[in-house]
Amino acid sequence: MEILTQIKNLGFSEHTYSEVILSIRHKDKVNVAPMGVLLGEDENLHLRVYKGQRTCRMIMDGAEDCILNITDDPRVFYDAVFRKDQIAYCPSEKVSSPRICGCNAYIECIITNRSEREELIEVSLKPIFISVLKNPVIAYHRAEPALIEALICYTKLLHFRKSDRRAAGELRERMQIFRDIVYHSTRNRDLRMMITEILERARRC
Ligand SMILES: Cc1cc2nc3c(=O)[nH]c(=O)nc-3n(C[C@H](O)[C@H](O)[C@H](O)COP(=O)(O)O)c2cc1C
Repeated sequence: MEILTQIKNLGFSEHTYSEVILSIRHKDKVNVAPMGVLLGEDENLHLRVYKGQRTCRMIMDGAEDCILNITDDPRVFYDAVFRKDQIAYCPSEKVSSPRICGCNAYIECIITNRSEREELIEVSLKPIFISVLKNPVIAYHRAEPALIEALICYTKLLHFRKSDRRAAGELRERMQIFRDIVYHSTRNRDLRMMITEILERARRC
């Protein structure tokens, strides 16, 4: 099947961001971070990576490729932000960056373009190889998406906490709502522990 068709089958679109976990290697350094990805008219995939993050530095320093690891498991998103040392890697097929073990699918990409803006860099990725390992068919759960939303609020809070106190206050309020959704919709101890930890970190920062 053509790569573009496979990418669309995985849910990537020109209109809606797909949330993935990007793994990247530059020289002997490997890093992971959740990122939003948009499909471009040029059939490449596009990222906006904010400055001040490790991923941004590695791309600006010359990293050549990366993997888009696809999963809906919030544990992997959580580890990619807070417990990077717990991430287990496995080798890729065509690029030097490693995959994160246990994801549903992988898109191996070459970094073809970087353009610098004031606060961020825009990055174009050419997908060269796709593996789909699991096709999940499961009923919708509320807890996992709420946890990922809380993580997004937390990583934005790090950005806004000094420059915009009102935005920071709103993010903290929103996180409390996501915490309530997790507690109302699951008794899973792992998920409850993670949302509690995210809120505690937000309170401390
Ligand atoms: C679901 C999700 C999506 C995210 N999307 C982006 C994004 O598109 N661009 C970005 O710069 N940061 C994004 N972030 C924030 C980074 O992943 C986060 O700041 C991360 O800790 C950066 O790690 P690093 O410093 O190791 O690169 C996202 C976070 C989450 C939880």
